[in-house]
Amino acid sequence: MGNIASTKGKKRRPVAALPPPAFRWIDGRRFNNLPNTVYPLPSDEKELDRLSLQHFLYRFLWKGNFCSPVERKLKTDGLILDIGCGPGAWILEMASQYQRAKFFGLDFVPIFPAEIKPSNITFLQTNVLEKLPFKDGYFDFVHLGLMNFAFTEDEWKSKVIPEVIRVTKDGGWLEIEEIDTALTNSPSSLVPITDFWIEYLESQGINPHIAEHTLGKLLADTEKFSEIHHRIEIIPYTEQAGQTGKMAKDNTILYYKTIAPIIITQLGNVSATEYEDVMQSLPREFEMCRSYHNMHRIFAQKAPAEIGIAGGAALNNEIL
Ligand SMILES: C[S@@+](CC[C@H](N)C(=O)[O-])C[C@H]1O[C@@H](n2cnc3c(N)ncnc32)[C@H](O)[C@@H]1O
Repeated sequence: MGNIASTKGKKRRPVAALPPPAFRWIDGRRFNNLPNTVYPLPSDEKELDRLSLQHFLYRFLWKGNFCSPVERKLKTDGLILDIGCGPGAWILEMASQYQRAKFFGLDFVPIFPAEIKPSNITFLQTNVLEKLPFKDGYFDFVHLGLMNFAFTEDEWKSKVIPEVIRVTKDGGWLEIEEIDTALTNSPSSLVPITDFWIEYLESQGINPHIAEHTLGKLLADTEKFSEIHHRIEIIPYTEQAGQTGKMAKDNTILYYKTIAPIIITQLGNVSATEYEDVMQSLPREFEMCRSYHNMHRIFAQKAPAEIGIAGGAALNNEIL
């Protein structure tokens, strides 16, 4: 014991403050713990699986991964950015299909594949709310898939849209894909849960209805786009839609289970048993109510340098 120095009478050295942990856990789900973000969904294996599976469903519903007229660029030397790429299902598929184009995927949590990926993709761990590490006018096509819950409406307006405009070439395209937060023809049992969720999102400064009415207008207000289009596709939750309806139904129930920890634990409005009862009843109730979600693709061309756009582009609603 003689070589253990006595601490008696000695001052303790101050312990260096530890950085906050990168993640926090709620009800067994892992969430990011990054400062200054409103993003409420988990970042764990279950969520990676859900997002990847969902990608294939949405691609099937839309009969393609994008609506912008960028095919020619993709087949040649296009430079493409996917903001908030998550596990990378969209970008992995695009990069395999368009091997001559060069792709960059960004996410602030490194849940994208580190090594096993096509050689024409670079993944970067980056917070989109900070300046993007690309020079002005670098990209032919910038894509944002399901990023609504990542930003407040003010962040869309003051940070995300201006930064996307900065890194897009004159004549390049921006495409945003979103889903309505509220169901159309919702089962009544689900209404309080959706209402709590919407209330929570709004309390964080998120606009849960941004795709329906606001995003197209925010783009038009910049007066930087020569064309803006808004298309809507329906995600059906009935057996009439065959295998797609079944897949869509399972996917949306999984989404409601994903947000359960926030509604049950953080908001405390519904008990776990009540929540589970509603989840159990949804397949039957979706069928009876003929429930569906609207999905949006808003795509816009940054004005080519030679075109003046006094007054900004008109917003074309193309209801499919
Ligand atoms: C709902 S997921 C969508 C993922 C993918 N785009 C898709 O369509 O499946 C949103 C993604 O945005 C990422 N994200 C949220 N806020 C971000 C930010 N400020 N910067 C970068 N990525 C962010 C999250 O980590 C998550 O992977």
